Amino acid sequence: MGQVTNHRAVVSEHGGPEVLRLVEDDLPEPKVGEVRVRVQAAGVSAFDLIYRRWPHLPGSPKVPFTLGEDVVGIVDKLGEGVTALELGQTVAGGTWSRGIGGGYAEYLCLSASELVPVPAGIDPAEAVCLVVNYLTAHLHMHRIGEVRAGERMLVHGAAGGVGTALLQLGALSDLEMYGTASSSQQELVTELGAIPIDYRNQDFRERIGYLTGGEGVDIVIDPVGGAMHLWHSY
Ligand SMILES: NC(=O)c1ccc[n+]([C@@H]2O[C@H](COP(=O)([O-])OP(=O)(O)OC[C@H]3O[C@@H](n4cnc5c(N)ncnc54)[C@H](OP(=O)(O)O)[C@@H]3O)[C@@H](O)[C@H]2O)c1
Repeated sequence: MGQVTNHRAVVSEHGGPEVLRLVEDDLPEPKVGEVRVRVQAAGVSAFDLIYRRWPHLPGSPKVPFTLGEDVVGIVDKLGEGVTALELGQTVAGGTWSRGIGGGYAEYLCLSASELVPVPAGIDPAEAVCLVVNYLTAHLHMHRIGEVRAGERMLVHGAAGGVGTALLQLGALSDLEMYGTASSSQQELVTELGAIPIDYRNQDFRERIGYLTGGEGVDIVIDPVGGAMHLWHSY
């Protein structure tokens, strides 16, 4: 091992946040088309929590592994062939091309083509929230759902990371929105422009039927899943 200059948080066994351990590494070197990023902020996603806790999930990595699906940081070294980014530039991007995670680190190398510049003056911790949550929301609403202005959208988990992104993007697309959330989150869902439904105390199918005069909605975004829940959404 050469000079130790990088630190990463690894999941050494499955469990709560207490299983995270700090390890020391060599500074990673960018390959052709990659840049090395000095991480300023890494996102914490639902995937991170699931992979950290559950060893038997399909696709779950073997310990030890580093979590972190999205990062914001400073370009610290350019790999061969990189011309679109500059040293010192602040960038944001996902870590998916590396496999599972990798963002809970001081430094990591990412493909330059998967990074976008972050405008000056934006807090890295705020910018990093945009990557997984808003990209997921955008893809589901526009690429898969192909929503149009005036349509009705029901979002499950409306107060979560992806859910709040969906409501913000849905408002920009002039959708009529409904969102399931627990009672403490009803106000947040209302503030984001949707009619809240308390999924713990109300049957969302009955509520939607009532609120839409029996017409229902055009699109449901359902990350809760499970055959029964998906059927009810359908
Ligand atoms: N396919 C992809 O590319 C992709 C990307 C990102 C996330 N995801 C998935 O999307 C899901 C949400 O991720 P996230 O990061 O937004 O998670 P999150 O921030 O933890 O939010 C999840 C929300 O789900 C709500 N919830 C739990 N059970 C519910 C139910 N039965 N009905 C309605 N709401 C319920 C909780 O709401 P309350 O607090 O109101 O109870 C919580 O706010 C996860 O399953 C994640 O794995 C997929």
